[in-house]
Amino acid sequence: MTASEENNAIIQKALNLAKKNLGKTYPNPSVACILTNKKNKILSSGVTGIGGRPHAEIIAIKKIKNINEVENLYVTLEPCFHHGMTEPCINEILKLPNLKNVFICTKDPYHKVNEKSINLLKEKNINVFLNDKKNDAIILNQGFFSTQLINRPTISVKIATSLDGKIACKNGQSKWITNEKSRQFVQKIRSQYDCILTTHKTILCDNPTLNVRYPKLSKHQPIRIIIDRNFTLLKNFENLNIFKTAHSQKTILFTEKNILNITLENIQLIQLAECNLKEIFAKLCDLGITRVLVESGGQLITSLFRERSIDKLYWFQSNKIIGNDGIPAIRDLCADNINDSEIFRLMDLKRFDDDILKILINEENLSKITYYF
Ligand SMILES: NC(=O)c1ccc[n+]([C@@H]2O[C@H](COP(=O)([O-])OP(=O)(O)OC[C@H]3O[C@@H](n4cnc5c(N)ncnc54)[C@H](OP(=O)(O)O)[C@@H]3O)[C@@H](O)[C@H]2O)c1
Repeated sequence: MTASEENNAIIQKALNLAKKNLGKTYPNPSVACILTNKKNKILSSGVTGIGGRPHAEIIAIKKIKNINEVENLYVTLEPCFHHGMTEPCINEILKLPNLKNVFICTKDPYHKVNEKSINLLKEKNINVFLNDKKNDAIILNQGFFSTQLINRPTISVKIATSLDGKIACKNGQSKWITNEKSRQFVQKIRSQYDCILTTHKTILCDNPTLNVRYPKLSKHQPIRIIIDRNFTLLKNFENLNIFKTAHSQKTILFTEKNILNITLENIQLIQLAECNLKEIFAKLCDLGITRVLVESGGQLITSLFRERSIDKLYWFQSNKIIGNDGIPAIRDLCADNINDSEIFRLMDLKRFDDDILKILINEENLSKITYYF
């Protein structure tokens, strides 16, 4: 292996490691750091802690028995430069007496960092390498970059359809379009998101719990966010699983109704003058939420397509046929010209017996972030 291949392999290891805490570090990104010695043997590693602290670099440095051995540091995001809830990581990094090379996937666009750490490392005669895994690192923490640069969290949508693209029968019945293995995988996807966004309509039709039931992953549950402009769920809330389980999983409901005299135990009610997607996403940013997984019916999904705000699709396709009278995954988009239609690039394809999962990303939306780097 050449030195450059070796460096890339370590950076890839760090990117894989950083995935571990996705959905659990908001408002911070999930970052990984690896320290190696003169021969590039891995000495220690760290991933951003649950809730965003401690930072990956500090975890990796604290694990080291003899800091004199550290010559190379690999990190998936520029180390922080500012005093936040913790000391700046760059100060701790500069205490490594024999550090020679720092490999960084991307700079941090946050105005208090924004290449300041990179420049300081260079001033201290430490070699800084910005490597070619930049795009992978941006996709990994797209939510963090998105909140910084375009004032909305990253939006991913899970859709489960029949072979003919329907999400439910004409009466709204949809349990179960996909098979058990696909539904198990959805739990894994959920665990990587800060929150799951749904609508009052899907809650009434499906009475979902929207939690993570995998024993290994269930320690940290995503926040559940419900859009209910007219607060229709208020009439039924005692029978709904989402409210029954609110004591153990944070739940937020957005409405346009006056909530002044309403309290629902364990539910955070947020009144907006207009419950539109722009306002909701801006509010989610204020709450520190960076990664949203939408699990709703076709109406909300269509609104998201119309606004071109879907960054990633998890599209499960089963082997069942529902027919033209079923509920479509996407309603009218009034497309007149195929060349103007939205394009999603296939990133990954998985098979669960007769079900297929396509994971697709919206490169046009991604470019609104990558242009910055
Ligand atoms: N297969 C799957 O993956 C899947 C997943 C979830 C649900 N489902 C099925 O989907 C069906 C429900 O689908 P649906 O299309 O009728 O309902 P839906 O998309 O879940 O919800 C529709 C409601 O969302 C609100 N909404 C839509 N666009 C909005 C926007 N831009 N801003 C704010 N609010 C917006 C509206 O609420 P207001 O009426 O208050 O304006 C609308 O009535 C059910 O049968 C369910 O079983 C399937």
